[in-house]
Amino acid sequence: MNITLRQLRVFAAVTRHRSFTRAAEELCLTQPAVSMQVKQLESQLDAALFEQLGRKIFLTEMGKEVYQYSRNILQQLDELQGVLSSMKGLDKGRLKISVASTANYFIPALLAGFCQRHPKITVSLDVTNRETLLNQLADNEVDLVVMGQPPKDADLGYEPFLENPLVIVAPPEHPLAKKKKIPLNALTQEIFLVREPGSGTRIAMERFFSQRGVHITTGMEVGSNEAIKQSVQAGLGLGLLSRDTVEMELTLGRLVILPVSDFPIMRHWYVVHRQGKRLSAIATAFKDYLIVEGPALLGKSTQELPRLAEKNRKLNSST
Ligand code: PGA
Repeated sequence: MNITLRQLRVFAAVTRHRSFTRAAEELCLTQPAVSMQVKQLESQLDAALFEQLGRKIFLTEMGKEVYQYSRNILQQLDELQGVLSSMKGLDKGRLKISVASTANYFIPALLAGFCQRHPKITVSLDVTNRETLLNQLADNEVDLVVMGQPPKDADLGYEPFLENPLVIVAPPEHPLAKKKKIPLNALTQEIFLVREPGSGTRIAMERFFSQRGVHITTGMEVGSNEAIKQSVQAGLGLGLLSRDTVEMELTLGRLVILPVSDFPIMRHWYVVHRQGKRLSAIATAFKDYLIVEGPALLGKSTQELPRLAEKNRKLNSST
């Protein structure tokens, strides 16, 4: 058997995405190159790894077995890389982080400060939604993740480091924009643009309204914060977004925050890793940097953070 790590990486990406096209996008390869790697792996192992049913692809029984082994091999290699970079200290090495699409509005600024301090490190930054972040943590593909409240039942260590208020935005000419105070049930007359399923913002929004028994009407489903902002400006509906995403539009007067009672929804940003993961020296330094310096560098309040951090420490130690 003469298989290569590249074949295993390509196979693992196709399995994760259940798609040759999306795996090709992730790996910056062409689709034929991805198919070729999988074919070569199948021929080396003398086993069919995928089957196509309709438009979807599925792992065969042998494919499932090969996937388990590939994951272990790739994780071991990642761990080896982490251990070696720990041994090299903070001067060299690689930091692999993934952040929620909404966190992308402030993480690059923080990363810039960190990279100035450690100019020789290589950073890989992926920006995706909450659901994909949880999969990446489960598959041990990243050192650290920045996301909203992680699920309590997953095997994760996490620490809050920033507040993340969610607000309702409208174009300045919207009739509600003139009101001083808007009762929650006035929103039942409006149409909301919502993020895609799998978005943390969307989950928080649905939970908030369902806990209060308020039935809102949702219009278009929009796959990014940027597209929501454009659609709100175009008058297609109201948006519920992290305040971090709308700073520029507020300054330019293109959007306004509606003063709705019970708002903002107060969420927090967490730095997250797999429980028990051996973090490299760089990953540990970045985590500490976010927690200790992040809020001040971004000029944010930290009022609620000590209480939340304590609550999470208790939760983490009792699970
Ligand atoms: P999202 O995450 O970008 O997936 O909406 C934000 C959050 O979890 O608050």
